[in-house]
Amino acid sequence: MTEECQPAIFPLTEIIIDKSSTQDFDCGQKFLNNFLVKSCAKKLEKNLIRGHAVMMGDQIVAYITLRVHSLEKSWFVGTGSLPKQVPVLMIDQIATDLRYQGRGIGRDLLAEAFKSAVIISEQAGLKGVVLWSHPDAVGFYSRLGMVSIATKQDGDIELTLMFISIESIIAAMEDYQAAS
Ligand SMILES: CC(C)(COP(=O)(O)OP(=O)(O)OC[C@H]1O[C@@H](n2cnc3c(N)ncnc32)[C@H](O)[C@@H]1OP(=O)(O)O)[C@@H](O)C(=O)NCCC(=O)NCCS
Repeated sequence: MTEECQPAIFPLTEIIIDKSSTQDFDCGQKFLNNFLVKSCAKKLEKNLIRGHAVMMGDQIVAYITLRVHSLEKSWFVGTGSLPKQVPVLMIDQIATDLRYQGRGIGRDLLAEAFKSAVIISEQAGLKGVVLWSHPDAVGFYSRLGMVSIATKQDGDIELTLMFISIESIIAAMEDYQAAS
């Protein structure tokens, strides 16, 4: 009997990101394909990003990258007094190969990012998790509890700043644990 290969999640620092592990990757967005093939390994090496990949055998089929960041307090409306610069965890890039989209892989990667955010918040303090979303992906992040707090124009595209607070992440994790 042959064992069926299942997608498995790994920290990006524990896998090899090279031509052979990325040769088939195509999420439908050239920039995100190129980032994985050309920039990801270099940024990891320089300690500028961390993240996770979903592997199917020796192929990367999805990835997420994270970096620490600070946002001007003006982005946060109605949240009381805040310092000028607010510490957040930024989702730098996230992408699932077209052949694997719609299987819950993006959700699992976002859940890993939220777990990382809780650890960082315990060690160093963090307001929450943010990212600049492409218009097509706003629905994906909204489904997973993130809310739109601002927009900005990037050429022809309107990007949406999506946010979830650490308190909301912890509450969602507690609900999940209580239900399982
Ligand atoms: C956005 C993306 C990462 C989602 O990854 P995925 O692995 O397909 O997502 P999942 O299968 O985990 O989806 C989780 C849920 O969100 C929904 N969803 C996925 N993509 C969605 C979208 N673009 N809009 C609305 N809902 C979406 C799924 O139907 C699923 O719903 P469910 O909870 O009812 O089952 C993936 O579509 C992708 O790589 N897109 C191209 C690159 C991109 O746009 N990256 C983001 C740039 S900001």
